[in-house]
Amino acid sequence: MPEYRFVAEGFEDAVRKFEEQKPEAEVKTQFVIPEKDFNTAGKGSSELKNLLKRLGVDSVVLRRIAVASYEAEINVAAHSKGGIMYSTVYDDLIHVRFEDEGPGIANIEQAMTPGYSTADDLVRELGFGAGLGLPNIKKNSDAMRLVSAAGSCTKLEFLIYFAKIS
Ligand SMILES: Nc1ncnc2c1ncn2[C@@H]1O[C@H](COP(=O)(O)OP(=O)(O)OP(=O)(O)O)[C@@H](O)[C@H]1O
Ligand SMILES: [Mg+2]
Repeated sequence: MPEYRFVAEGFEDAVRKFEEQKPEAEVKTQFVIPEKDFNTAGKGSSELKNLLKRLGVDSVVLRRIAVASYEAEINVAAHSKGGIMYSTVYDDLIHVRFEDEGPGIANIEQAMTPGYSTADDLVRELGFGAGLGLPNIKKNSDAMRLVSAAGSCTKLEFLIYFAKIS
């Protein structure tokens, strides 16, 4: 399936190492994201934010994680038939993963373009649909991967480190 990958400058080695030998997870969470349910969508990212706050994650990093996971969660509710958000907290980073039930994204590059949106009227009335969610996820992540195709499920994941990699 087509995929879009992004790794922030300076994180290449850390991300490669993480992918080669996954460290032991500290905490895992899982949330169901129902289709077009904007009362429930957003709960996963807000619970995740609370958890990480309790774990002492820096507030600037926490904000990046909250923004990226909220945008991804809303996308699943707004554009798919529903899905699941999985978060895994490691010692020095968080891995957040979204898997939905389709209908998928026909052109990933186009979807990543700021301003591009297929949001329907209901979604726009709620204030979404500026076409900035995916670019915002990229901007706030240290690594991101989006895998999808028309008629398929969409998988989106990102990594955010708790401290700067030196
Ligand atoms: N999980 C998904 N399933 C299907 N299509 C998606 C999914 N996520 C994003 N898209 C497609 O990518 C487009 C761009 O997404 P993006 O989050 O950047 O903007 P938006 O959701 O339309 O508006 P905003 O996020 O600014 O409220 C969406 O309009 C939609 O066509
Ligand atoms: Mg969006």
